[in-house]
Amino acid sequence: MSELFEVTSIKALELKNRSIRSATWSGVADKKGRITDTAIELYGNLAAGGVGLIITGFQYVMPNSVAMPYQAGNYSEDLLEGLSRWVQAIHARGAKVMAQLVHTGSKANPELFWKKEAIWGPSSIPDPLTGRTPKEMTHHEISQVVEAFAGAASRSKRAGFDGIQLHGAHGYGINQFLSGAANRRTDGYGGSISNRYRFLGEILEAVRGAVGQEYPVFIKLSGHDYFEGGLVPEDSLYVARRLVDDGIDCIEVSAGSRASQNGMVPSRTKIGKGEDEAYLGTLAKCFKESLDIPIITVGGIRSPSVIARIFSQGIADYVALCRPLIREPHLIDRWKNGNFEKAACISCNGCFETALDGFGVTCKVDRDAKERQC
Ligand SMILES: Cc1cc2nc3c(=O)[nH]c(=O)nc-3n(C[C@H](O)[C@H](O)[C@H](O)COP(=O)(O)O)c2cc1C
Ligand code: SF4
Repeated sequence: MSELFEVTSIKALELKNRSIRSATWSGVADKKGRITDTAIELYGNLAAGGVGLIITGFQYVMPNSVAMPYQAGNYSEDLLEGLSRWVQAIHARGAKVMAQLVHTGSKANPELFWKKEAIWGPSSIPDPLTGRTPKEMTHHEISQVVEAFAGAASRSKRAGFDGIQLHGAHGYGINQFLSGAANRRTDGYGGSISNRYRFLGEILEAVRGAVGQEYPVFIKLSGHDYFEGGLVPEDSLYVARRLVDDGIDCIEVSAGSRASQNGMVPSRTKIGKGEDEAYLGTLAKCFKESLDIPIITVGGIRSPSVIARIFSQGIADYVALCRPLIREPHLIDRWKNGNFEKAACISCNGCFETALDGFGVTCKVDRDAKERQC
């Protein structure tokens, strides 16, 4: 366990340990994406629990890319004050925080738009999850998205975030452009993997232009879409190498989307035994062995012994956890204080439901148990 508690740095970002809270949509904003007091409270408690770096839930960079109820927004200067308050609450309790930025592409939910907008995607084909058909983005619209990412990155830096993470996984906009299943374009943004990378390459260039070379810019990247005609590891490694050449600082290797086949979704269930844990470790190791930047592995990490193996076998430099920290926001401190019991989370995914009411994501198992006691 000692490696978990090593102090490390990525550029000027010093991290007190190697644990990261993977981005988690937490249902803590209002209907226009403004941060609420619930966010301050929920994230403040999480920050006090020992995790080294918190990556926020995905923040939408344009009004036509809200996908989930009470999702945080980062599309306008009006949101800056709330974002700053959020950061301050986390810093005050000793954790670092990065903003995850997303354009959700064809997964945007028009029922959550507050003005009439079209859904945009790389190609005009039905989204495999929502069934909705987006408008194929024109070159002008692509530039608008690129500028929106740059604007959100600049705003995040000014709000005090310690860096940003681009959401390039789970079937959202960037992933859609990279994936042959969603991107059927015949112009310079479609076809070969080099062309499909162009959209992401332009976003990274614009973001760097907005925040400078020294500001940490990470990406959560899909290593495999687990979907017919989608991204495969060979393509994803090509993308990762291009990202490194273009100045990305760290890659969190995820995979799948809620439309993936055979249960290969990002948040998998049935993690019983140790061998079920760290289900994306093999994929992460391919990235770790091929690239000379820090790699984060995420997905089903539950036990100190598995974390020790991740470091000793050179699978990744950092471990990211989502659901275990919903159930036990102070899990990292528990381990630090010598209680090495595995995380109490049973990976049932009930917590997705709990964030729908706008009062913040919580563990459904615990919520149900409390209700039974009342
Ligand atoms: C309630 C919930 C919300 C999530 N929101 C996001 C998100 O905003 N961005 C993201 O990249 N992944 C999101 N995820 C996926 C997690 O970050 C993570 O990749 C996945 O759950 C696997 O990690 P775990 O086994 O530690 O939960 C979410 C997962 C859950 C359960
Ligand atoms: S509802 Fe609770 S136990 Fe189930 S996955 Fe979410 S945090 Fe874990």
